[in-house]
Amino acid sequence: MTDLRTDIDAVVRDLTAARDRTLHLTDLDEPELLRQHDPLMSPLVWDLAHIGQQEDLWLLRGGQAGRCGILPPDVEQLYDAFTHPRAVRSTLPLLPPVEARGYVSEVRARVLDRVAEADAFEVAMVVSHEQQHDETMLQTLQLRRGPAVLGTGTPLPPGRPGVAGTSVLVPGGSAVIGVDGTAEPFSLDNERGAHTVDVPAFRIGRVPVTNAEYARFVSDGGYDRPELWSGRGWQVRTDMGLAHPMGWHGDGTRTRFGVVEEVPGDEPVQHVSWFEADAYARWAGARLPTEVEWEKAAAWDPATGRRRRYPWGSTEPTPETANLGGTALRPAPVGAYPAGASAYGVEQLMGDVWEWTSSDFTAWPGFTPMLYADYSAPFFGGDYKVLRGGAWAVGASILRPSFRNWDHPQRRQVFSGVRLAWDV
Ligand code: AVJ
Ligand code: FE
Repeated sequence: MTDLRTDIDAVVRDLTAARDRTLHLTDLDEPELLRQHDPLMSPLVWDLAHIGQQEDLWLLRGGQAGRCGILPPDVEQLYDAFTHPRAVRSTLPLLPPVEARGYVSEVRARVLDRVAEADAFEVAMVVSHEQQHDETMLQTLQLRRGPAVLGTGTPLPPGRPGVAGTSVLVPGGSAVIGVDGTAEPFSLDNERGAHTVDVPAFRIGRVPVTNAEYARFVSDGGYDRPELWSGRGWQVRTDMGLAHPMGWHGDGTRTRFGVVEEVPGDEPVQHVSWFEADAYARWAGARLPTEVEWEKAAAWDPATGRRRRYPWGSTEPTPETANLGGTALRPAPVGAYPAGASAYGVEQLMGDVWEWTSSDFTAWPGFTPMLYADYSAPFFGGDYKVLRGGAWAVGASILRPSFRNWDHPQRRQVFSGVRLAWDV
């Protein structure tokens, strides 16, 4: 079973890797950790202690919130995401940074003490939670004003000319969408179960939409033409005064993690809302893919009539196949990962940017909540659009082609981009 990474040693390594990342992202001055950098985000010190609180709840108390944890109940409840909206978290009597660090390390020490008896899925679920908050903290640091604290990012492979704006045909036919716990033991509840869907033929972008392509939409008046936008999208564009992706200055430059630089034309556009992605697609004579189309293009192998574990096959992601892990601080140029292509020849599905789909977040048939029962279910049927594929900011160990992310359609703090689709 080692190839499926169900052995506890591998999961413990993932736990440690997630913590290294968390500590790196919170290795900042106290005021930086306590500040509300944006009303959309928590202060970083909240994410830090919440990571520990969730680990305490799921791995030390089996999810029984009524049992006493390490923190007194009146302190522990400060880290309940459903009770306290992000915008008010900096006004709560939170654990100061030193105590928050002490708390998370105490939880971890107790978890490691008894990890031999732990359920590997539950540990992996907690790894996923911590890695997802690491990405959330990167969103916070992207919104933060002031000089850079993370540097400019690690090197990435070069792009390939000639791939931007091209597409591939995915012939019609059924495909298995979603996964079961047997094939993907660490898949989260909303990725299950595997079910067969008949998918009519469509075309899909070989690579995500680039900044250069998106800049043509901007200069063609894309933000001033209501006919390109959904009714609600035009309202949001007007209310928020949108004129270009988040972080762009309108003069060909952008701010990225505190550094002002030229917008690279061959990099996938990021920090666009679903409404902007939808308007761009209309301008381009295309549409957004459904999540079923996206997953078929990513995971289905028509030659074998089976799913692949990853678009390129069964090997885990490497720097040759995908830009993941969060150290690059940006997406890679289009064409950077020919070795990461799916069976249909679609590239950069995993990593780089989350890709907005046209789909609302709903349960797959046979949905059963996991131990963390409020991870997915409270959000089904809400005002959420599904994003697929994972951004450069996602930890590689938590990602699969079946992984589903969701956010409100007006949100653009996400490392979100666009992949186009067309009817045939
Ligand atoms: C799956 C990214 C939408 O951040 O709201 C973190 C992940 N859930 N803690 C979110 C999550 C609980 C979730 N997303
Ligand atoms: Fe959380």
